[in-house]
Amino acid sequence: MSLTINNESFEVATRRSRELETQIQDHPERFRMLTGDRPTGPLHIGHLFGTLLNRVRMQELGVDVFVLIADYQTITDRDAPERIRDDVLGLVADYLAVGIDPNKATIFAHSQIAEINQLMLPFLSLVGVGELQRNPTVKEEFAVSGGSSMNALMFTYPVHQAADILFCGANVVPVGRDQLPHVELARLIARRFNDRYNSGEPLFLEPTALLSNAPLILGLDGRKMSKSRNNAIALAMDEDETARIVSAAPTDAERRITFDPVRRPEVSNLLSILSLCTDETPSAVAEEIGDSGSREVKRRLTEALNERLRPIRERRRELLKDPAHLSIVLARGDERAREIAAQTLNRVLESMHMRY
Ligand code: TRP
Repeated sequence: MSLTINNESFEVATRRSRELETQIQDHPERFRMLTGDRPTGPLHIGHLFGTLLNRVRMQELGVDVFVLIADYQTITDRDAPERIRDDVLGLVADYLAVGIDPNKATIFAHSQIAEINQLMLPFLSLVGVGELQRNPTVKEEFAVSGGSSMNALMFTYPVHQAADILFCGANVVPVGRDQLPHVELARLIARRFNDRYNSGEPLFLEPTALLSNAPLILGLDGRKMSKSRNNAIALAMDEDETARIVSAAPTDAERRITFDPVRRPEVSNLLSILSLCTDETPSAVAEEIGDSGSREVKRRLTEALNERLRPIRERRRELLKDPAHLSIVLARGDERAREIAAQTLNRVLESMHMRY
């Protein structure tokens, strides 16, 4: 198994992911899914259409859904630690607002589960420095930092992520292509641990990546959607902010609206977002707008976004009136995660003969 993803291993992963989707439909109760987000600010519509709605769908199918707040991951590159509490509780509010139900799903923060972090020690012993150096995300970070200034937690974060996945026996991990190597690493660690310490018997399950089939949407400026680029529609934004940011989106000078992602990426991206809100195809939307130009695209997009996000925003506002409730939801999720992590760590120490 390769830790870098070429086209061939991507095809294998795609096939596996499709089979997994069918198996989930047939027997949702056999699956535990783990997904997570770094608490770096409010979630946006890229998250909503790319992953959040899928989490709710899985939850409603009857999959045991674990939602991880990867707060330790933010300490690799953030220098304003005092914001973390608001960001974490804001994330809980985002989750509940979109319909993740804490009575069905487990929302937890990995910093609060000491046992997960303890798994990292044996896991680190199973991974080579060279393997981490070849991990695409680590490699990229290494290049960005000029190498020498990268900290060791950043270097080992895919191993930490493997602990996030493996501690609870998750067999489904929804990811985009960029995160596939991390799932591959988790599979590898599971296999190596089982081989070395458990006579090849599966103490750890090998998780399968569930690739998103949502169309990729870009930020309003045509670059990757990201809060820091100021090109994202946050779930938490109000209607006026939404209108403002949509109206500032670059388009082109052609009056007649067509859906043509290659030749007209900006307009086409707006049409894609619009179509996700209205459940029509982007071409049908383009057809309807016809000669009315990009102003009309933006008018419709603003309206559709505000319409689609209204119930989510209302719920979110209500939830934020009672932050203590958000803390309680998180504490309950932490507790469930901790119970499972403690059992896993027990079995790990036993299989490593570290019971005295
Ligand atoms: N690295 C993920 C991101 O940046 C967040 C994450 C942490 C995660 N641990 C995970 C995702 C485990 C899936 C599984 O979005």
